[in-house]
Parts: sequence; C-alpha cells; structure tokens
Amino acid sequence: MCENYVSFFSLFDFDSFSKFSFSASLGVILWFDVQAAEILEKEGISTEVINLRSIRPLDRSTINASVRKTNRLVTVEEGFPQHGVGAEICASVVEDSFGYLDAPVERITGADIPMPYAANLERMAVPQVEDIVRAAKRACYRAVPVAATA
Ligand SMILES: *[C@@H]1O[C@H](CO)[C@@H](O)[C@H](O)[C@H]1NC(C)=O
Repeated sequence: MCENYVSFFSLFDFDSFSKFSFSASLGVILWFDVQAAEILEKEGISTEVINLRSIRPLDRSTINASVRKTNRLVTVEEGFPQHGVGAEICASVVEDSFGYLDAPVERITGADIPMPYAANLERMAVPQVEDIVRAAKRACYRAVPVAATA
C-alpha cells in the first residue's frame, strides 16, 4: 500500500485565498495538485491532497498522520524555495515522523527569481502540473532523481 501513496501539501485553498492580498493564482496551486492527483491515479499512484487552510497555526497533526500513512511527501507552493512554507513543513516532518519517510521529501516551489511579466516566462517560474507529477514519481522511485540528471 505504502509504495503507491504520496502526500501533497497545498498551501492555500479556494475558500481562504480571497483573504490574502496576493493574486488569484494562489488558489491555482490546489487545482494543480488535484489535476496531478488525477494523472497519477491513472498510473496507479494514489495521493492524499492535503489542503492546509492556514500556515500559522500549521496543522502538524494532519501532516504527521498523512506522512505516517503514505511514507512520502511532496510539498507544493508558489513562493520562493528558501525559508518557505515547504521548508517549515519539512522541518515539522523531520521532528514528528522522520522514521516513517521512505523517500526524500520533494519540495516544489516557484523559481528563485523575481516574478516575470511575460506570460510564457511566468509559466516557467511557477509550479506546473507536470512538475508535481514528476516529483510524485521521484518520491515513488518511478522517475530519475534530479541529482542524477544534473
Ligand atoms: C504523530 O503521530 C503519532 C502516532 O499517531 C502520535 O503519537 C504523535 O503524537 C503525533 N505527533 C504529532 C505532532 O501530531
């Protein structure tokens, strides 16, 4: 069972994103997670999409329970890679359920650059469905790790 499960952590949900003063694209990340989950399901990888409603307080018990169930974790966020919410989630998993991880945590974030205006460049700067799918496959050892391709 564990081999085919991946945890996703989406940072914002449709109900709450209107409270943020950022763009509507924040809510898109959850939509991307759901789309990725549908693609992965067809390939025999079941996912739990966890829709965090807030980042402070952080729902550590839900994260903990999911990682202990699935033994894998992919975090998805639009923000910068360094010091982000994904990093905080990784730290909480190391503290609460490190021994349950069967694969390195995959952290999907926006690129570490100022957000470009051009639509084609913006697409390259924010997480896309295919990025999430690839990360989930890496977490299930069904794809080449990033380090091996570099
Ligand atoms: C994580 O889950 C285990 C097992 O259910 C539990 O004992 C522990 O208190 C949990 N930790 C947190 C931070 O939720």
